[in-house]
Amino acid sequence: MAISIKKITEHIGAEIDCDVRLRELSESDFIDVKKAFDEHSVLVFRGQLLSDEDQISFSERFGSLETTVNSNPEGGGTVMTVLSNVDQQNKVIPPEDKRMVFNTGNQMWHTDSSFKRVPALMSLLSGREVPSIGGETQFASMRAAYGSLADQKKMELDDLVCMHDFAYSRALIDPNLLTNDDKAEVPPVRQAMVRKNPVHKKKNLFLGAHASYIEGWDLEESRKLIAELNEKITHPDFVYSHSWKKDDLLIWDNRTVLHRGRPWDRNQKRIMHRTTVVGELTVY
Ligand code: OGA
Ligand code: MN
Repeated sequence: MAISIKKITEHIGAEIDCDVRLRELSESDFIDVKKAFDEHSVLVFRGQLLSDEDQISFSERFGSLETTVNSNPEGGGTVMTVLSNVDQQNKVIPPEDKRMVFNTGNQMWHTDSSFKRVPALMSLLSGREVPSIGGETQFASMRAAYGSLADQKKMELDDLVCMHDFAYSRALIDPNLLTNDDKAEVPPVRQAMVRKNPVHKKKNLFLGAHASYIEGWDLEESRKLIAELNEKITHPDFVYSHSWKKDDLLIWDNRTVLHRGRPWDRNQKRIMHRTTVVGELTVY
């Protein structure tokens, strides 16, 4: 046994103490990590000095990886998304630069890729360079929030379908951030409002910033309910706030948690490398 698992808060998060490099994790320890992932939704590994190759191959043990296009200056898809405020000359990019404004979308509570027809299973984020204060990543349990609802309310929500729309969430930052071509690439998609973990069958809400309206509902009523539920999910009781140290690796369950980045002193560098594992359809 090379790992031990310690819960962080009542509803969300566990720290995995790991006395080997992740690339040396045995199959039986890996199975325990997967179990902990289903159980605790956010896993924290400290002091994991990872190359991109290490991170990609560890991520691939969980499933196939999403590719993103716009983070790759050479064009084409890449499985490694770099969230960085540092340019190729190693200078800090000012916050008003369009690339940085685009990334402020990460400061809204969201779940990765819920605007894609097949949303993400998990994201793995490695802190390569982190600010000394601020720049935390926070996580909120959509499972604990669902559990806190009255039975009647649960029943009302169970079969609803929500439209998730990247253009909608980006317009909240700036209506002109996306071009019409950008928008055409990411049409709204349907997602179940309530999901169930395939292993232990516990249910959770599935919402966040990309959730635009409820299928078949009046727009205003939709927005009101979505806002109310997002509020519930992000209640401090259901939140874990992670203060980064260099070489932390965080893994989170995009099926069951919302997350957001927090602001930091923009003179400081923050370089994070992310891989994302593909999930499965939530509605058919
Ligand atoms: C992400 C994300 C927030 C952060 O990588 O998907 O939302 O704190 N990151 O960098
Ligand atoms: Mn994200």
